[in-house]
Amino acid sequence: MRNFILLFLLFGSIFASDFITKNEYAKMLYSNPRGIGCDKCHGKKGEGALIAKFKHFDKKSNKIVDGELKAPRINNLDFWKFSEALKRPKDVMPSYFLTDEETLLLYEYVKNFNDNKDKK
Ligand code: HEC
Repeated sequence: MRNFILLFLLFGSIFASDFITKNEYAKMLYSNPRGIGCDKCHGKKGEGALIAKFKHFDKKSNKIVDGELKAPRINNLDFWKFSEALKRPKDVMPSYFLTDEETLLLYEYVKNFNDNKDKK
């Protein structure tokens, strides 16, 4: 009987639909997806950020020049561009294996920061 009650409690908590809210889930995905967090490169609010500065040899000018690696702003894109970037990442942008729903949640999450900024 005791085991039955424990089992009941366990399943109850797993299947409770309002276990975490959509926004909480999106926030978690943004800072801790199955891989390195988006915030590490794109900034807390998707505003874009400098990842690294480096020096490289420029063949044209025959000089050593400064270079920068930046993660672009991502809170002002349309959904198509956003999801394409996640499906077919370029450069140092890592590959993620997110479901369509997760991509949408992430998109809405970062877009929110843009709306807030524009209202002032
Ligand atoms: C290791 C750093 C890094 C991480 C982590 C990272 N990105 Fe990126 N991301 C980049 C860089 C650099 C680019 C620019 C690639 C290019 O076009 O040259 C980029 C491009 C993008 C673009 C396209 C922007 C545009 O204007 O076309 C989107 C959207 C994007 N990232 C979303 C995400 C999301 C969402 C996550 C987390 C799931 C994430 N990124 C994690 C570095 C990162």
